[in-house]
Amino acid sequence: MTTPNPYDEFPYRSLPIEWTAPERLALASLLHGGPRQPLNSYRVLELGCGDGANLLPMAYYRRHAAFVGVDGARSQIKIANSGKSKLELSNIEFIHADFLTADLQLDGEFDYIIAHGIFSWVPHDVRDALLQLCAKRLRRGGLLYLNYNTNPGWNVRGMVREFLLAQTAAASNLPIRARQAQEVAANVVSSLTVSEHPYSQLITNEFQFVCDNHVSYVAHEYLAAENHPYWRSEFMALAGHHRLEYVADADFNYSSGQIPDDVVPQLVEQQITGRTLDDTVDLLCYRQLHTPILTRSPFTRRPPSIDEFSNLLVASCLTPCGKSSAENPMFQHPSGYEVEAKEEVMRDLLTNLLPLWPRGLLVKAAVPNVSEVMEDLMLLQRNGLIELRCTEPSDFEFHQGRLKRWEVERGDYVTTPYHTLEAAPASFTGGSTMPYPLSRAVGAKT
Ligand SMILES: C[S@@+](CC[C@H](N)C(=O)[O-])C[C@H]1O[C@@H](n2cnc3c(N)ncnc32)[C@H](O)[C@@H]1O
Repeated sequence: MTTPNPYDEFPYRSLPIEWTAPERLALASLLHGGPRQPLNSYRVLELGCGDGANLLPMAYYRRHAAFVGVDGARSQIKIANSGKSKLELSNIEFIHADFLTADLQLDGEFDYIIAHGIFSWVPHDVRDALLQLCAKRLRRGGLLYLNYNTNPGWNVRGMVREFLLAQTAAASNLPIRARQAQEVAANVVSSLTVSEHPYSQLITNEFQFVCDNHVSYVAHEYLAAENHPYWRSEFMALAGHHRLEYVADADFNYSSGQIPDDVVPQLVEQQITGRTLDDTVDLLCYRQLHTPILTRSPFTRRPPSIDEFSNLLVASCLTPCGKSSAENPMFQHPSGYEVEAKEEVMRDLLTNLLPLWPRGLLVKAAVPNVSEVMEDLMLLQRNGLIELRCTEPSDFEFHQGRLKRWEVERGDYVTTPYHTLEAAPASFTGGSTMPYPLSRAVGAKT
């Protein structure tokens, strides 16, 4: 690299990203008719792995798979390698390389490639090299996860970025600049009179977001030289140029990835043609970040068969909470969202699953007739109310101690074998809510 890497100047504080776990990507693909993935033995490549916060816990719990992390910041790779030694892992390798030349240091193909927080944040030549690298190293039928800042919703954040860039231009280095940006944002929030007007609330939330997030996130999202939002159609065209095709959204069952069920049919009916349907949906749903999973084209979409669905696991922590006005049993999710079990099969299933949580049961062992509940279970899963899984960690207690010590020391959190966070730091903005109504054998209300 000719210029110093800003991630050496001010390291980015990374965290595990739930939906990048191989079995979650495999599930998203299966449920959306994408390629079926191996989960007994596979290879994962993470591009821009930073200090290994996402890849190390993944490798720790998945000794049957092999992991490779690539990053251009020497200081980050050093931390990642020290994590590898502390955790005594032999199924992971970290490579210090720029995306422009990383291919020279890689061997073979990968079943899964992950690039979180990279695409929008690099110059266009690096972005193109990244896509080329992914297309070359992704096994046919493999899954590539690549997120990016999305037009037009991200532009609200972009306005704040423009403002903070100008306000902190005189600072001597990135860490100082980022702290100044948080101070400026705090001043803006405290001096704004939040009115009923939606713009007032929107902009206040955006400035509050700067205050609430980790200072390294502020540095690289708001103050880094590169930050390019893309329309979904633009992104798909760039990916298509490398023969990469869209499969599903990795966060389809999280609030960030949900769109109201009626939006697409309404738009189709109204024949809106100015932009693509997907771009219009992103505009209407205020999408700021998109988390697509891609595969090498061509591929033929094939919905999950009853047999494939029967072999998934289902887990639920929904708790009984009284009866509906129609005298049907109600169940509550920890988020507060309530589900009405209109049919006996659903009531029995939810009752039986609760004591097993977080463990699940094979769908075919949990219900007498899988085809009867398949649609409802997918609906509940899509709304984040139950979990469908391709596989269950074989040993939940798997020496969690060593990982726990390492993670608590570096960030006061612990990653579970499901790749979720046991204690999320205050500044972590993940999590799911379920804002949309359900139907058929299940109903719901907040
Ligand atoms: C915003 S951080 C994201 C880190 C991590 N994936 C996450 O989401 O927490 C971007 C990472 O990409 C790396 N990176 C940026 N440009 C790069 C390049 N040209 N070659 C290799 N790595 C690069 C940085 O060093 C940094 O660790």
